[in-house]
Amino acid sequence: MKFSNKIIFFLFLALVERITGAMPLKATGGHKKLNKRAAVGGPVTVNMSVNTTSTIKNTLPSSSNTTTTELQVKGVSKAIAGINGTTVSKDNLNLDVQLVIENDYSLYSAEFCFGTPCQKVSLQIDTGSSDLWIPATGSATGGTTNSAIQEHGTYSVNGSSTAIEFQDDTFSITYGDSSGANGYLVVDALQISDDITIDLATFEVATSNSAGQGVCGMGYLSEEVTSKEYLNLPALLKKNNITSSNSYSLYLNSEDATSGQIIFGAYDEAKYEGDLQKLPILKKNSDGSESSTYKALFVKLDGIMAENTELTTKSYDALIDTGTTLVYAPSDLYSNYTEKYGTYDSNAGSYTAPCDTVGTPLSFQFADTTIKVPFSDMLYNISLTNGSYYMKNGVQQCSIGMVESSGDYVILGDVFLRSAYTFINLDDNTISLGQVKYTSESSVVLV
Ligand SMILES: *[C@@H]1O[C@H](CO)[C@@H](O)[C@H](O)[C@H]1NC(C)=O
Ligand SMILES: *[C@@H]1O[C@H](CO)[C@@H](O)[C@H](O)[C@H]1NC(C)=O
Ligand SMILES: *[C@@H]1O[C@H](CO)[C@@H](O)[C@H](O)[C@H]1NC(C)=O
Ligand SMILES: *[C@@H]1O[C@H](CO)[C@@H](O)[C@H](O)[C@H]1NC(C)=O
Ligand SMILES: *[C@@H]1O[C@H](CO)[C@@H](O)[C@H](O)[C@H]1NC(C)=O
Ligand SMILES: *[C@@H]1O[C@H](CO)[C@@H](O)[C@H](O)[C@H]1NC(C)=O
Ligand SMILES: *[C@@H]1O[C@H](CO)[C@@H](O)[C@H](O)[C@H]1NC(C)=O
Ligand SMILES: *[C@@H]1O[C@H](CO)[C@@H](O)[C@H](O)[C@H]1NC(C)=O
Ligand SMILES: *[C@@H]1O[C@H](CO)[C@@H](O)[C@H](O)[C@H]1NC(C)=O
Repeated sequence: MKFSNKIIFFLFLALVERITGAMPLKATGGHKKLNKRAAVGGPVTVNMSVNTTSTIKNTLPSSSNTTTTELQVKGVSKAIAGINGTTVSKDNLNLDVQLVIENDYSLYSAEFCFGTPCQKVSLQIDTGSSDLWIPATGSATGGTTNSAIQEHGTYSVNGSSTAIEFQDDTFSITYGDSSGANGYLVVDALQISDDITIDLATFEVATSNSAGQGVCGMGYLSEEVTSKEYLNLPALLKKNNITSSNSYSLYLNSEDATSGQIIFGAYDEAKYEGDLQKLPILKKNSDGSESSTYKALFVKLDGIMAENTELTTKSYDALIDTGTTLVYAPSDLYSNYTEKYGTYDSNAGSYTAPCDTVGTPLSFQFADTTIKVPFSDMLYNISLTNGSYYMKNGVQQCSIGMVESSGDYVILGDVFLRSAYTFINLDDNTISLGQVKYTSESSVVLV
């Protein structure tokens, strides 16, 4: 379907007003005709690739624009979290090496193309934040090397004939793993797939960053760190009538798969067993505190069982976060988990289990639905800096996939989400969960 010029003009004004307020325009290029051929209300499927990263990520934004409220991960678990970098040295290690947690499957990305001609950038898909930012070509970096940025692609405003810069609209975001990005807003074309291009998308361009890869935040606009809200990807798709709702479903696929799928404006009935359980999103800030409006994607987790044993008798607020690799849990829950599933290993300075442990599956209870996670899916290889895997008495030892946090809420990261089919609907403020079914079959239902 094509838009008339009148609609383009109208849309352009609306977007510009949204992001600039009284700011003068500093346009660096003209804007081209809309080139959107998707059926109105149709689903948009984006394949996500899974790629290696050397840090265990937690991209939950810190709760304010400029200060870092690091997730407080205590003692030993801090090593597991890998906060601030890839290697963690511990004073009490008996091994003369630094431990690195290897998590080959900790990052879900999708490729998008920005500007005219378009420049390919791979972005991390993150339900734990709301900002869409991409690294500027030639931008300065903090903790990461330029090659990490080059690998995922960069964007040059000067290289795009359709870019419009808003250099006075700056942003600064810091994530839970202390990485972050700074820069300003740009309006330009955004190509999502071969046949869908949105000509006037607003996004953040980072002139400096320490995250290495840009992020596609998928949460509520109210969580954006910019002083004025702009339409992030799921909201933009709806606004452009490409989807009928600000919603998307997540299929991370199995641990050994190299790609998963995200469908905007629909869910796929073939990819879960039984029914999807619809849960209300709780009004919570990303630090777990109460909010008067919808902010972070929390739902109520009613309990966790390990076969017939209750790991916890309590219910918790739980954040659905693709940007976090592991599960973060309050100390009482964490200690019940480590007691059942791990052994404290003074060499590693953390709880470990032999990597071939089958273990009893974990059952996460949400209202009337249970999501079962095989214990083997929680396990993560530990490798030594000399490249070999961590062995004890000839047996390879793994991290047990849960991190102790000082908060009173749970973060359900990728080790959990791989076992769930997740449909997030920001229009009716619900998240629906079902037990995933790994299949290439598909039966898409529009929402
Ligand atoms: C996405 O993945 C599916 C299944 O692997 C494949 O058939 C399809 O061509 C892929 N789409 C794109 C745009 O890469
Ligand atoms: C971010 O900064 C803006 C402008 O200073 C402020 O209005 C907004 O409340 C801040 N957001 C947060 C989450 O602190
Ligand atoms: C992470 O880096 C920041 C900035 O360099 C530093 O202030 C903080 O203490 C570091 N955190 C950890 C856990 O090392
Ligand atoms: C991971 O990314 C690198 C660099 O972009 C690429 O060469 C490699 O093929 C990717 N691996 C997978 C499994 O996608
Ligand atoms: C873009 O071009 C302008 C004008 O030629 C120049 O001032 C600016 O430094 C360029 N920016 C980049 C990132 O190359
Ligand atoms: C989307 O559809 C609505 C309702 O039909 C219409 O008012 C609006 O102009 C459309 N927006 C765009 C960008 O086409
Ligand atoms: C941990 O397990 C014990 C024993 O089953 C139980 O009494 C306690 O309530 C559990 N802790 C939590 C946080 O549920
Ligand atoms: C974990 O280590 C084993 C070697 O025992 C290796 O075969 C496997 O690929 C590793 N898994 C990941 C996710 O790296
Ligand atoms: C790596 O270091 C560990 C611990 O010191 C050692 O046991 C192992 O043999 C080393 N591996 C290689 C390939 O050097």
